[in-house]
Amino acid sequence: MDQQRSEIRSHIREPEADCLKALFARADLTPESRSKITERAIDLVKAIRGRKTNSLMELFLEEYGLSTNEGVALMCLAEALLRVPDTETMDALIEDKIVPSKWGQHLGQSSSSLVNASTWALMLTGSVLDEGASAGIGNTLRLAIKRLGEPVIRKAVSRAMKEMGTQFVLGRDIGEAMKNARLLENEGYTYSYDMLGEAAMTESDAKRFHLAYSKAITSLAPACNAQNIQDNPGISVKLSALFPRYEEAQRQRVLDILVPRTRSLALLAKSVGMGFNIDAEEADRLELSLDVIEDVLSDPSLADWDGFGVVVQAYGKRAPYVLDWLYTLAQKLDRRIMVRLVKGAYWDSEIKTAQVGGLDGFPVFTNKCATDVSYIACAKQLLGMTDRIYPQFATHNARTVAAVLELADDPNSYEFQRLHGMGEALHDIVLKTQNTRCRIYAPVGPHKDLLAYLVRRLLENGANSSFVNQIVDPDVPPEVVASDPFSKAEKLPIPSENSKTVMPKDLFQPVRPNSRGFDLTDPDTLVRISKAREPYAAHVWKPSSLLAVEVEPGSTATMFNPSDPKEVVSQVSWAKVSDVSKAVSEGCTWSADARERAEILNRAADLYEENYGQVFALLTREAGKILLDCDG
Ligand code: FAD
Ligand code: 2OP
Repeated sequence: MDQQRSEIRSHIREPEADCLKALFARADLTPESRSKITERAIDLVKAIRGRKTNSLMELFLEEYGLSTNEGVALMCLAEALLRVPDTETMDALIEDKIVPSKWGQHLGQSSSSLVNASTWALMLTGSVLDEGASAGIGNTLRLAIKRLGEPVIRKAVSRAMKEMGTQFVLGRDIGEAMKNARLLENEGYTYSYDMLGEAAMTESDAKRFHLAYSKAITSLAPACNAQNIQDNPGISVKLSALFPRYEEAQRQRVLDILVPRTRSLALLAKSVGMGFNIDAEEADRLELSLDVIEDVLSDPSLADWDGFGVVVQAYGKRAPYVLDWLYTLAQKLDRRIMVRLVKGAYWDSEIKTAQVGGLDGFPVFTNKCATDVSYIACAKQLLGMTDRIYPQFATHNARTVAAVLELADDPNSYEFQRLHGMGEALHDIVLKTQNTRCRIYAPVGPHKDLLAYLVRRLLENGANSSFVNQIVDPDVPPEVVASDPFSKAEKLPIPSENSKTVMPKDLFQPVRPNSRGFDLTDPDTLVRISKAREPYAAHVWKPSSLLAVEVEPGSTATMFNPSDPKEVVSQVSWAKVSDVSKAVSEGCTWSADARERAEILNRAADLYEENYGQVFALLTREAGKILLDCDG
């Protein structure tokens, strides 16, 4: 198993072309089966378009994709509002994003009154802030609203977001959600409930989420009356909700606190006979999550239960290796587990994190077709593991669904899944015609906890490469919506990284290369840093003034490690006051030309990077810094 874990790690930032080569081999699809999938997918696309029951998200995208200025403004605003701490900045941001757009053009265009209401709110906001708005009653009204101040505007925007949000939440509490679920349960769907909220900031947040999950499982107990997990409701959990320091740097605390917390919920789920899924979150949490999963699942009290589930993200380059590891783990523990295969909901932030961190590449694919290929290769892999794994294929893409239908023999050996408020038409058609199961992932909770989830939905669907975006655009023919990702991937140049996605090292080009960063959540990187630090573990530095003039040696002082006062870090030689005066009087302007100065500064920067072992050692020992701060 250790070997498989290092295999997982070794692929984290593999070049996309190499990943694709391996995925093509895993998928091993003949040209005949690829064209059969295309035919099926085209039929599905036509059938979906033949229905008039578009979801609110689809109607919204019809009006605002990422191809319109308004759509881009909206997505930026939604994403940015998440991170804005104070109302002043929020107001400035709203003004920046909303004013330049032509919201009025969208008014009354949508067949949904909710989308129109959102447009109205946004238009009002735009006009209120637009100094140049025309005179008249409208203007008087706008001026009156402007007098009321920015809070009104902020409310208008959050109102528009909230209207969108209602679409994605099944109920404000588990009781309401269970009641709302009955309608589709009667049509043959099952549910997996998710308690909205993630990334607990404090211990009391985490305890609140833990309690919400415990209560939800208990409330669902009476509904778990089928003999098998597959037909009962389930629950989906985000580990980040259960512990505020769910991060690599706190590994031991995670194992000591998060593991028993997760295990207690798993045991509760087992006791009522329901499925329990661990959601997949950011790529830098994958390694840690696998440790938590192994630790929880290994508990003997969870034996004889096939309801433990893990989510795997196909956009991650490590996905197939994670599946191999999970299969081996299930074999080793003599268990059956569930694996939900998704494409991944954190694409934008994964790209940004790697770029900002100056990392050696991305942990996720940069071409949409590569993610689609990966999904199908992983689906095939899972369908070959059904003696130990119950695959759950979560997607709203008809092409992806068609591929699973083509590859799978027994409709009983797996299930499809969709998100509440999305992919209704597709899954209705498939459920009714293919004799397959379908489970709906349903967020439950107050709307104030929805924003992070809603932003992920807006971003993943707003892109014009997304299936949900294309299906609502009548200008995109079914053959294009359903086109074969393998054909697209075959045509990618080598290297295959998407040229529109700037590589981390090139973030500031053509001005300068980005500084090199360290992925401090990657165990291999941590070992590398540790080795490079080793020669300086007991080193005593002897710093003195770096002056261009001759000076007498000054008095010396011994400096100690603040986190271990017995440990000597350096013998400092102080500058004397006379040295400082000499330096000031003899100092002169740096006369080298700009190019030479730039070269010297760049060389200094390169030396920092080359000598990272010494720099990490010095900063941690001298100032007690954590690695993250040293990197900064
Ligand atoms: P498609 O339109 O076919 O795919 C969109 C996806 O493609 C994007 O989300 C992204 O993953 C990928 N993509 C977009 N652009 C690019 C690009 N340039 N390069 C590479 N890839 C790209 N997600 C999680 O992360 N964790 C979870 O635990 C989780 N649980 C889920 C549970 C259920 C039941 C469902 C239905 C979804 C869940 N998701 C989860 C969300 C899921 O990842 C998204 O809904 C999904 O990515 C959308 O894929 P699709 O096949 O429906 O749509
Ligand atoms: C998300 O929270 C559905 O788990 C997925 O975005």
